[in-house]
Amino acid sequence: MRYGYFDDKNREYVIEQPDTPLPWINYLGSEEYFGLISNTAGGYSFYKDARLRRLTRYRYNNAPLDMGGRYIYLRDDSPHLIGPKFWSPSWQPTRVPLDEYECRHGMGYTIIRSKRNGIESSTRYFVPLGESLEIWELTLTNHRDETADLSVFSTVEFNLWDAMDDATNFQRNYSIGEVEVVNGGQVIYHKTEYRERRDHFAYFASSESLSGFDTQREAFLGLYRGWDLPAAVEAGLMSNSVAHGWQPIGAQQVKVQLKPGEQKKVIFILGYHENPKEEKFDPLNSQIINKRYVEPIITRYLDENEVEQVFQVLRKHWDELLNKFTVSTPDEHTNRMVNIWNAYQTMITFNMSRSASYFESGIGRGMGFRDSNQDLLGFVHFVPERARERILDLAATQLPNGGAYHQYQPLTKRGNNDVGSNFNDDPLWLVLAVVAYLKETGDWSILNEPVPYDNQADSEMPLLEHLQRSIQYTLDRLGPHGLPLIGRADWNDCLNLNAFSDSPGQSFQTTTNKEGKVAESVFIAGLFVLAAKEMAGLSKKLEEKGEKFKKNFSLLCSHFYQEKVAEMESVIWQHGWDGEWFRRAYDDFGHVLGSKENEEGSIFIEPQGMCIMAGLGLENDRAAIALDSVNEYLATPHGIVLQQPAFSKYYLHLGEISSYPPGYKENAGIFCHTNPWIMIAETMIGRGDKAYDYYLRINPSAREEISELHKCEPYVYAQMIAGKDAPTHGEAKNSWLTGTAAWNYVAITQWILGIRPTYNGLEVAPVIPSDWDDFEAARSYRGIRYEISVKRKGPGNAVQLEVDGNSIDGTVISLPDEGLEKVQVTVLLGQ
Ligand code: GLC
Ligand code: GLC
Repeated sequence: MRYGYFDDKNREYVIEQPDTPLPWINYLGSEEYFGLISNTAGGYSFYKDARLRRLTRYRYNNAPLDMGGRYIYLRDDSPHLIGPKFWSPSWQPTRVPLDEYECRHGMGYTIIRSKRNGIESSTRYFVPLGESLEIWELTLTNHRDETADLSVFSTVEFNLWDAMDDATNFQRNYSIGEVEVVNGGQVIYHKTEYRERRDHFAYFASSESLSGFDTQREAFLGLYRGWDLPAAVEAGLMSNSVAHGWQPIGAQQVKVQLKPGEQKKVIFILGYHENPKEEKFDPLNSQIINKRYVEPIITRYLDENEVEQVFQVLRKHWDELLNKFTVSTPDEHTNRMVNIWNAYQTMITFNMSRSASYFESGIGRGMGFRDSNQDLLGFVHFVPERARERILDLAATQLPNGGAYHQYQPLTKRGNNDVGSNFNDDPLWLVLAVVAYLKETGDWSILNEPVPYDNQADSEMPLLEHLQRSIQYTLDRLGPHGLPLIGRADWNDCLNLNAFSDSPGQSFQTTTNKEGKVAESVFIAGLFVLAAKEMAGLSKKLEEKGEKFKKNFSLLCSHFYQEKVAEMESVIWQHGWDGEWFRRAYDDFGHVLGSKENEEGSIFIEPQGMCIMAGLGLENDRAAIALDSVNEYLATPHGIVLQQPAFSKYYLHLGEISSYPPGYKENAGIFCHTNPWIMIAETMIGRGDKAYDYYLRINPSAREEISELHKCEPYVYAQMIAGKDAPTHGEAKNSWLTGTAAWNYVAITQWILGIRPTYNGLEVAPVIPSDWDDFEAARSYRGIRYEISVKRKGPGNAVQLEVDGNSIDGTVISLPDEGLEKVQVTVLLGQ
């Protein structure tokens, strides 16, 4: 069953029913100001950091679902009305039935349109580029034959900035809330803590003059009432309350009279502003906010022409971004995910990492080191300048020993001490991110960029040194079999072989009760081979470039890395190969995991994907053997599960992985992040049909028809789909913020469609399904537009390239002479 449909032309998903199985959300903002918005206008906003600068309050885990949002109420003020007098045009929070309802989630905006009793309303929510504010533009139309007298109520519930503190420290917080009300409530300033150390405040403004306002929550709602039944809306009368402590809100009442057929716009803006510290107050010795800088901004965006214009700028921005890579294939799911939604999701994960979604509270996690490095693989070609900045930020949190803080806070860009370090895969991902950036941009100067360790002044070293230390970090931490020690965990955060945690509530990620000198990871070994091969390739390139680079770095030669690759490969074959698949790990007792010897957890997906992506088993038939095992033991119609058999009970020596009931999350769930590794591996052995088959199994658009089972949004990937051991097999969770977005994007665009950047130019080597006759793609790459047309000549993946009409050898199109802007590529595929 579906709850809506894709409008690909407008790059929107249109939801036709408000009570979707879960709130289906979108994100507003792409620079510093962000918001989450659901299909019923739920959600919250923040500036840069979802924990430390949260503007509005949201209640996770509430009943009913999804409470707190950008709520507007409409009230019929005519005295002789039958039935409910007021309703929510976004359905929530009143849930009064609507005659029509439609929510359009688009690229950086959401439009909720509905109709009730002849009154149509459409609210467009977005964040203009370059601003730290959001606009709610409400358009009302009277379809009745008579004049309508309406009241519009707008509401926000202010959060007292630190979302954690807001939810815990009531003894203080009930006393500190402060607002300033200007122009009869037309602008409501939320200034809690501004009197002391904050130099920032929030504001909520309306384009119309008001007939009333409230800033004290209970005055507006009435005692013991919820957002579904506010007393002020019911009565049609505000009390002009001014909050002193308790729960400051912004609520405004605008009276609107509409003749038959008449239309009217009302604009609300919610924003964040910082003042220079020494100019916080006006007059200087007062406690009143200095509004000189913010007032012109407010005035500007309360103008409907201006609003329309900045909305068009936003649309154009996304058009330009998404046009950097477009495809037209025989499959609509592939087209819309690559051209629209998967691309969009990679940009959202770039902005959010794993911080704020409807499954991540925005409090618990900062920017993940390994997560952000992997996210970059998906978005680097969209915003290379910002990828550069992200790489330097991440590298600056690296520790002098080459290790990495597992997370950093976006506001301070400092490593997060609560979680700390010792996830031994972390530093290797930095190598993959930097290499992806170099292949995309050719900007070698980044390697020379001075970057500190642990953000300490005077510890700056060229970025290249950071990469070398990343590799060295693994080499300094080899275990009894010569495999890398796992530390707290590797990519699988829940494989905690050194935790041995038996106290409820202890964090598996930070508990370490073992010395950590025994447990080893075959996955990190595979990742090491991949990263060290990349370092060999990169060093070779630098050697070719010659003296200019050599004098800047104490460069380790490519030979060094090649040697280390060979050594690690031979260890993997000796201790990491189980006969029919790659093993997973060795535990603290030195016992193998992910082997036929194990009754539970005898085969895992991660080492199959990672080792083959690193090239292991391609020269013999072992890659194919391992992938056949994946197909036999791990594949399901809903995707490939993480391991089998699932752990049936908690194992002290395995940690969190066995804490989950069978079939969920890391315990044999379909952890979607890993599925594209298998797709890529399949393409590497030339099996396009299999790769594409796996691709479709978790493709959200291809799962749209089973939305009642899948439950999450059909336009974005979820982190996890319940595996075959779960009673709810096929049900998805944790949508939006997942490495699944970047990796699927890489799998489909670079490996199945086969269009990938290299140091020397764009490579085109598709491994597509055998029944695809052709496809077209266009890609911007280093300032050149490549128009690629692929035609199947026969079975197989052999490639013959014609570039601007001339046949060339191989699969890489060398960078053309300067000045050329467009290149036509014809690809003849198969024999
Ligand atoms: C979560 C984490 C990611 C980890 C994965 C597997 O998605 O964000 O870092 O690799 O879980 O445990
Ligand atoms: C939990 C989750 C895992 C995630 C980790 C992050 O362990 O199962 O997916 O990576 O939390 O801290």
